[in-house]
Amino acid sequence: MLSQASKDIIAATLPAVKACATDITGVFYPLMFERYPEVKAFFNQTHQAQGTQRQALANAVVAYAANLDRLEVLGDAVSLIVQKHVSLGIQPEHYPIVGECLLAAIREVLGEAATDQVLGAWGEAYGQLAELLIGAEEAQYAGNAARPGGWRGERTFKVVRRERESEVIESFYLQPADGGELATFKPGQYICLVLDIDGQQVRRNYSLSCRPGLDYYRISVKREPSGLVSGYLHDRVLVGDELLLSAPAGDFVLNDAERPLVLLSAGVGITPTLSMLRPALESGRVVHFLHGALNSRHQAFGADVAALQQGYPALQVQVLYSEPLAEDAGQPQGLFDQARLAALLPAERDLDVYLLGPKAFMQSCHASLRSLGVAAERIRYEFFGPLEVIEG
Ligand SMILES: Cc1cc2nc3c(=O)[nH]c(=O)nc-3n(C[C@H](O)[C@H](O)[C@H](O)COP(=O)(O)OP(=O)(O)OC[C@H]3O[C@@H](n4cnc5c(N)ncnc54)[C@H](O)[C@@H]3O)c2cc1C
Ligand code: HEM
Repeated sequence: MLSQASKDIIAATLPAVKACATDITGVFYPLMFERYPEVKAFFNQTHQAQGTQRQALANAVVAYAANLDRLEVLGDAVSLIVQKHVSLGIQPEHYPIVGECLLAAIREVLGEAATDQVLGAWGEAYGQLAELLIGAEEAQYAGNAARPGGWRGERTFKVVRRERESEVIESFYLQPADGGELATFKPGQYICLVLDIDGQQVRRNYSLSCRPGLDYYRISVKREPSGLVSGYLHDRVLVGDELLLSAPAGDFVLNDAERPLVLLSAGVGITPTLSMLRPALESGRVVHFLHGALNSRHQAFGADVAALQQGYPALQVQVLYSEPLAEDAGQPQGLFDQARLAALLPAERDLDVYLLGPKAFMQSCHASLRSLGVAAERIRYEFFGPLEVIEG
């Protein structure tokens, strides 16, 4: 339990820390990578360069310090961090490293205001948060290991099939190399790939794009321009190759409500919605599958989704091309703006929406859905990177 004296110091210094939180995390990461180069491989260096991880950590620290007496309000935020940490393999012994470097960064940025007393209080608060995360992460690691077909850490998988889904998206079908049982997962969850690319260890998350309960996992990867891992997977990983995977994680998962479901995605954001689609239909839900793609050459899984309409009349599908090609004449075009969503959604707004795509797409769809009367807590979304702010 944090002492009252520490709580008072944190409350008094929170405005100063909040005002320069991204400066603090901006000092923190280079310092940590210099002092402890062994942790660098856990971090996505693109997120470092783009500043998204720095912002996510700053937001988390400030939200925590502002809610020391009611940590329960941080439930979803804590769970998001725990899921991400577990998928990446973060261990208890990493916490003192982060604690030391975070305090050193606070000292450097706050200058004279960072007295020993102030740093002591923030250190105490960090220790409390670290304890909470370590406990929740251990529970998750242990749960993963105890599940039938589950495992702790990384497990070797074999690529058993590759499938081209569009000009830019390639699917990889993966089975355990040991021939053993495969843990099921919740529709919408992701795994982490741990790769060694030319001597550099890198980690990347990929959503499972198949339904649960099969004897393989499938990931579907978009080739990013000059993307390190997506380029490696597309160009160098062949059937028969082995890959290291962490167990499925994540809370962007299909709920078991009965109300109509809207799966609203753009581009490669389609992947988790694919794993939700069939289980939702099998449970008897009405599903509106709305997907935006640049054009027919970029659109993936169109035939798979259309085929499901045969067996499930409750499935409504709308695909829109935002940059149609000449050969796409006659296909629905445009964006999922407010007018389009108003026309597509059922009049009764008691819906569950799962939203995933580029940030601008999610921001615009979120605003439209809210204007159309969909409650904020009914709109779930995920970023293919650190959490960013979506609501204006
Ligand atoms: C939960 C989750 C689920 C995901 N699911 C999927 C999925 O199902 N399918 C999928 O394809 N992806 C998914 N992703 C994204 C995936 O993890 C990778 O981020 C993606 O594949 C790109 O990785 P990369 O190594 O190929 O590209 P990176 O090398 O990380 O680069 C990404 C882009 O940033 C640019 N870039 C790199 N460095 C810089 C810099 N310094 N400045 C400016 N630009 C830079 C690159 O040129 C490239 O265009 C998911 C991510 C998360 C967090
Ligand atoms: C109290 C301590 C910590 C807090 C509050 C914290 C917070 C966060 C947050 C908010 C995210 C972003 C989650 C998301 O939006 O996806 C994150 C991701 C991450 N954290 Fe932590 N974290 C802590 C400790 C650690 C430790 C000890 C390590 C190990 C060195 C670590 C490594 C990572 C990594 C590798 C990521 C993903 C980064 C990326 O995508 O580039 N964290 N953490």
